[in-house]
Amino acid sequence: MNLLELSKWRYAAKVMNGEKVSQDKIDYILEAIQLAPTSSGMQQFEVFIIKGDELKAQILPIANNQTVVTECSHLLVFASWDNYTEERINEAFENMFEKRGGKDERWDAYRQRIVDLYTNKPEDINAEHTARQAYIAFTYAIIAAAELGLDATPMEGFDADALDKLLGLDKKGLKSVTMLPIGYRAEDDWYGTFKKVRKDKEVLFTELD
Ligand SMILES: Cc1cc2nc3c(=O)[nH]c(=O)nc-3n(C[C@H](O)[C@H](O)[C@H](O)COP(=O)(O)O)c2cc1C
Repeated sequence: MNLLELSKWRYAAKVMNGEKVSQDKIDYILEAIQLAPTSSGMQQFEVFIIKGDELKAQILPIANNQTVVTECSHLLVFASWDNYTEERINEAFENMFEKRGGKDERWDAYRQRIVDLYTNKPEDINAEHTARQAYIAFTYAIIAAAELGLDATPMEGFDADALDKLLGLDKKGLKSVTMLPIGYRAEDDWYGTFKKVRKDKEVLFTELD
């Protein structure tokens, strides 16, 4: 299936059947996340992969009792930096320098501009910016899952502060942004019978000359 066909096949499953997803498929999704573009290439987020039933059960009430959290095979939690710091920015750029085989003067000058820009902005603005980067990778994961015939339910209907405490994300300077339960839709998922509805193209798109 091409991208449009996959986009029509996938939907936000509300009930999964508990079947486990193989590690090679999970690895494929994680690599898609790894390859997603981010602002300045800094990958301002981390992803936590939850497999254990006990931890999923603890997350269930935090996620408004959306049962897909416990019915899924793997539950991904996308958590982004709570703020920019010089250290975090430098670390991201050092990783690029190291893997590209040395420091490039132009890219190093750009690094300094990024440090000056973000370390002078308010924390909440920065946290919103880093969260937006996580959403890009989140989207990649949803598409990658569909390509493998897997269901992935995009979720932000959870208590982020409670999840941060449970997973110790606050201590790591991270804030949970989204969750992505991955698995297989249940045959009797009531939501699967719903027609996929989107805005009409004339409403969504405006051509300007
Ligand atoms: C950022 C985001 C957050 C969402 N949060 C939830 C959620 O917490 N629970 C849920 O059942 N669906 C959630 N959804 C699914 C949307 O309701 C769904 O994607 C939308 O209605 C379009 O339907 P479709 O994905 O089935 O085509 C979320 C989707 C996105 C993109």
